[in-house]
Amino acid sequence: MKAIGDAPGKIILLGEHFVVKGIPAIAFSINLRANAEVKVLNSGRHNGKPKVYTDLYGRVEKCLSRGKIHPYCTVLKLIGLAKGVMARIRSRIPPCAGLGSSSATSLALAGAACYARMGRIDKELVLKAALEADKYFHGKPSGIDTITSLVGGFILFRGINDYEKLNSGSTELRFIVVDTGLPKKTSKAVMKVLSLYNRRKRIMSKVYEAARELIDEAVHAIKRRDYASLGELMLVNQGLLNTIGVSFPEAESIIATAVNSGALGAKITGAGLGGSVIILAEEEKINRVVEAVRSRFSIKSYYVVKTDPRGLTVKARD
Ligand code: MEV
Repeated sequence: MKAIGDAPGKIILLGEHFVVKGIPAIAFSINLRANAEVKVLNSGRHNGKPKVYTDLYGRVEKCLSRGKIHPYCTVLKLIGLAKGVMARIRSRIPPCAGLGSSSATSLALAGAACYARMGRIDKELVLKAALEADKYFHGKPSGIDTITSLVGGFILFRGINDYEKLNSGSTELRFIVVDTGLPKKTSKAVMKVLSLYNRRKRIMSKVYEAARELIDEAVHAIKRRDYASLGELMLVNQGLLNTIGVSFPEAESIIATAVNSGALGAKITGAGLGGSVIILAEEEKINRVVEAVRSRFSIKSYYVVKTDPRGLTVKARD
């Protein structure tokens, strides 16, 4: 049996890092997707280790030191396909850019593997397998990336079992994503923030409460389609991210340039210490903002991405 899974990348609009300690965050799925094709081989002749290929790294087991199991193979094992399976993963989501590439690929793989093995989707099992892979990539994931990719749309996330879709009417929202090309390391950033929290609990608990208030106000702004307020709240959130130590000089300069050329707001997205900056600008100002950023910084690339309501999709493949 063959199946194909397809899952979107995500943008964390507000609340990354704070969400790791239970503060709500807002994220949405984007129109850049990853897919995985899984084929269960006839038993007997093909009973060996799983063969997993990606368009980026080739056969994945080859990029690990000996003895380690690649998280994609762990996904397959958890789905019940420890042997006799072949998978091919392709992605249009830039890796290491804070756009949820690892969660989307793991989820697409888990969905396709589940369908290929059972002929149906067991949502709980798929989520469990994808989250397990996320632990490898993230260290201590809140689950926001995987849930946003699974469900799709605008998500107000409080935990894996506690999230809601925001009826924002904002499917048309577009964001400029500036990939600085400085690779981020999610697990390192998460550990750095948690360590600061533990050393400075009294101060940090106030910063985290500010993050909670900010999300409350942002939910209202999104529902009212008040994008000027949303942009301002992005900048306030950026200030908080700077306070907890995950901003970086290039991001601060890009954000200042974006705002000076007319953007409503901007901030880093995802783990920080590298990765991407997201910018919200009115439609007619997008080109001007992009030009201002491109002319001043040697960025790796930029994308104008749209919110996209579609989450994980899975289907049989002939
Ligand atoms: C990573 O995309 C987002 C973080 O908040 C970590 C997490 O929530 O798993 C930094």
